[in-house]
Amino acid sequence: MSKAANRLCIDGGRLWQSLMTMAEIGATAKGGVCRLALSETDRDGRRLFAEWAEAAGCRLSIDGIGNMFAHCAGRDDSLAPVLVGSHLDSQPTGGKFDGAYGVLSGLEVVRALQDAGIETLRPIEIVNWTNEEGSRFAPAMMGSGTYSGALALEEVLAQEESGGGQTVAEALTEHGLAGDAPVGERTPHAYFEAHIEQGPILEAEGHTIGIVTAIQGLRWFDCRVEGMEAHAGPMPMPARKDALLAASRLVERVNAIALEHAPDGRGTVGEFRISPDSRNVIPGSVHLGIDMRHPDADALAAMAAALRVAYDDLEGYGGTLNEIWYSPPTLFDPTCVAAVRNAADALGASYREITSGAGHDAKYMADICPSAMVFIPCRDGISHNEIESAEPEHATVGVDVLLLAVLEKAQEPG
Ligand code: HGY
Ligand code: MN
Ligand code: MN
Repeated sequence: MSKAANRLCIDGGRLWQSLMTMAEIGATAKGGVCRLALSETDRDGRRLFAEWAEAAGCRLSIDGIGNMFAHCAGRDDSLAPVLVGSHLDSQPTGGKFDGAYGVLSGLEVVRALQDAGIETLRPIEIVNWTNEEGSRFAPAMMGSGTYSGALALEEVLAQEESGGGQTVAEALTEHGLAGDAPVGERTPHAYFEAHIEQGPILEAEGHTIGIVTAIQGLRWFDCRVEGMEAHAGPMPMPARKDALLAASRLVERVNAIALEHAPDGRGTVGEFRISPDSRNVIPGSVHLGIDMRHPDADALAAMAAALRVAYDDLEGYGGTLNEIWYSPPTLFDPTCVAAVRNAADALGASYREITSGAGHDAKYMADICPSAMVFIPCRDGISHNEIESAEPEHATVGVDVLLLAVLEKAQEPG
């Protein structure tokens, strides 16, 4: 038989079909998806995943924050499982692959092992983490962070959606997405996550696989700049307290602070809400949602300090600047990273080691068990955008690598 024929591998066509079918849920006109956490479309994506997982013989459990675990029994089902997964929620203008690739990769790993008649020593669990994106409800990686104990369940459940509206608990209840499994009581033997890189490096260097050794640190801030609403006509310019003018200066500084920490510093103001948002009223207040990142914890702390100085320099304005989330830079487990590298070598895949610029649920899992990630390229490095795209061949190789890495860990004795 050809090497390929007797090599354990996945069904790339089935994987791609699963991805495209999942992408029909919350599909947007520009070819992306909108499956905001704990929304109707997130619910529908969860239902489809549950249907597929149960059809693959998995036993489903759901915990109190809505994390979904599809259990595929091992020969010794009492052993701690190997978890493999990601998230099905998306950004408002998200792509077909961010998160869904990792969950459906886990499903394809289970399906491929069954096709090959392989029953691993340890159980394997496919996981769909609640609210990885943090777009509707801050912070991001909410389900995995609560599972790992980094975030407090009660505080998370009480979190209100950005801009006002439902709490996490209300959204879970509305769509019946919370389960009765305890949150975080089990420590997995290992955790793997496959994901698109969401940046340009692998594609630019012509690699199929990224062996993720670390995730950069990130800090999120909520800022409110308070000025004075007044009539846009009579109020003389020197007498104004235009909150939008002051907030714009802060936006400029967030960008400048990241550039001052080049090449790795990142600074983004992704949320910007003006009040009262009326053309002929001088803006009275502005909400800014700020995201700062750096692979080095000290550099990230310096960036946060510089932001505080920039905010304090807004003389004559009121308001608040609160850091709402800190996710430290995280290293992945050497044995899991080695399992990914062994798999890529066995498959002859072109790869490089890489630090993740994006946050992932694997960050919180790395805090509680040996974890690692497998990256594949995405077109032009674009993600968090409806045009996000990946190549079927890369998607297949990524899961072939994931399969061998999971298998290596799932055969480890207790
Ligand atoms: O923000 C992030 O890095 C991830 O996409 N939630
Ligand atoms: Mn993601
Ligand atoms: Mn994302």
